[in-house]
Amino acid sequence: MPGALAGRRAVITGASRGIGAAVAARLAGEGARLVLASRDAGELRAAAPAGALCVAADVRQPASVDGLFTAAAEAFGGRLDLLVNCAGVCYLEPLAEMALDQFDEMMAANVRGTLLCVRGAVPLLRAAGGGDIVNMSSALAARPITAGKGGYGASKRAVDAMSEALAAELDPDGIAVHTLAPTWVDTPMRRALFAEDGTWMAADDVADALVFLLTRPARVAVQALRLLPRDRYHQR
Ligand SMILES: NC(=O)c1ccc[n+]([C@@H]2O[C@H](COP(=O)([O-])OP(=O)(O)OC[C@H]3O[C@@H](n4cnc5c(N)ncnc54)[C@H](OP(=O)(O)O)[C@@H]3O)[C@@H](O)[C@H]2O)c1
Repeated sequence: MPGALAGRRAVITGASRGIGAAVAARLAGEGARLVLASRDAGELRAAAPAGALCVAADVRQPASVDGLFTAAAEAFGGRLDLLVNCAGVCYLEPLAEMALDQFDEMMAANVRGTLLCVRGAVPLLRAAGGGDIVNMSSALAARPITAGKGGYGASKRAVDAMSEALAAELDPDGIAVHTLAPTWVDTPMRRALFAEDGTWMAADDVADALVFLLTRPARVAVQALRLLPRDRYHQR
């Protein structure tokens, strides 16, 4: 039986591990055709589902993003149905002490990288007659930002702001722009940041939500989908 996303042509950034790798596996299982990106080509190839095209790309760098979308255009005949912007980094330090290069990397990867990939994808999405862009935000961006999360929170609020404007700007082209905003997801990123036990969502939970978003009826718009572990719902 064909999958729910059979033949859908997708670019996924940050696909070598964590949420992006889970999304790639889930979309491949639903029949999507994939072009995957991250900086570490070896890790990306090891994680990639069979048949996916892997492109080493740094989303902070315009030339690197150009290379990614040139490869996607060649693989998909100049058309694209879906961009999932999962590439991102997180440093949690008080703003007054945070190293500027950490702040800059979050802005470059999470904010500028999202924008560069949107710009790379839009011509291909237009050529396909429309499609979807899903930008990875964080559920923390919708709450008061707490100590230590100012830089990361600023980057994800910027993703939200760009996504809202892009949704309006690209709607006439039939391109729907959404944010997927989880928090407390058990990935290598979170393991590098938090040792604590407790309830975490699985990266597969986020991938499942993305499939829900992509298989909605055409009359439905999903502006933002926020996902939290149930027993942390009231925790900041
Ligand atoms: N885990 C959570 O609880 C959580 C919650 C809310 C939102 N998010 C967001 O979800 C996304 C994925 O997070 P994750 O937890 O899966 O993180 P992760 O396990 O660290 O994976 C991050 C991915 O992004 C790639 N990446 C990082 N910088 C990049 C760059 N400059 N260019 C290209 N690829 C780059 C990494 O590969 P390379 O290092 O090889 O490039 C990797 O594939 C991020 O945007 C994160 O902010 C995560």
